[in-house]
Amino acid sequence: MGRDVIIACDFDSKEQTLDFLDKLGDHKPYVKIGMELYYAEGPSIVKALKERGYKIFLDLKLHDIPNTVKKAMKVLSNLDVDMCNLHAAGTCKMMEAALEGLTREDGSRPLLIAVTQLTSTTQERMEADMLIYEPMEKVVSHYASNAKNSGLDGVVCSPLESGRVHEVCGEGFLTVTPGVRFADDDKGDQARVTTPAKAKELGSDYIVVGRSITAAADPKAAYERCIAEFVG
Ligand code: C5P
Repeated sequence: MGRDVIIACDFDSKEQTLDFLDKLGDHKPYVKIGMELYYAEGPSIVKALKERGYKIFLDLKLHDIPNTVKKAMKVLSNLDVDMCNLHAAGTCKMMEAALEGLTREDGSRPLLIAVTQLTSTTQERMEADMLIYEPMEKVVSHYASNAKNSGLDGVVCSPLESGRVHEVCGEGFLTVTPGVRFADDDKGDQARVTTPAKAKELGSDYIVVGRSITAAADPKAAYERCIAEFVG
């Protein structure tokens, strides 16, 4: 599978999202619909973007008891997105149930990936707030092997952990990595960040880029810069 850039469309309306996507000219990028946009517009935003030919990563990060997640995934499966996700912290049982719910009668399903530790979480916060004292890289690669053993396709992690995840889970196991900033950008609330070029060097399969593109003065140029650094 080739590398690609996924744009995080963190907007609160369909109108704003389409206005933004129109600024990208002829590009039909992989787009991420997160909680803000999905909760504002509901499933119709998925249909609208699919009809316009965008590939879709539905980033709703499910985390609940296995039966609830299984049933929710069954509903999401009908939206026919390309990729969706959950929290690996929900346990292997939850991930296995999710996969079952997501798989359609004909055996097809969207890609399913697991969030390991959010890229906004630091080692310090993980220890103080979650009482997890192992090094971040070990926690992320352990969650990744749980995801792999549960039959999932990959994980969301920081680009800084992509290499280790591939070592533990194999090159074919996908690493989808937010926490990407251009060298001259502000980090915002992200803690574990790198540039698109560095993410490529570290072996990420997909980078998820939000504000560095959506808040840029020229989003088309920012997207093209990401593609040039990460894919080209
Ligand atoms: O604007 P920015 O580039 O920081 O956006 C990153 C996107 O990736 C956001 O939509 C955020 O919800 C998402 N994300 C993340 N860290 C994760 C999983 C998803 O930042 N571990």
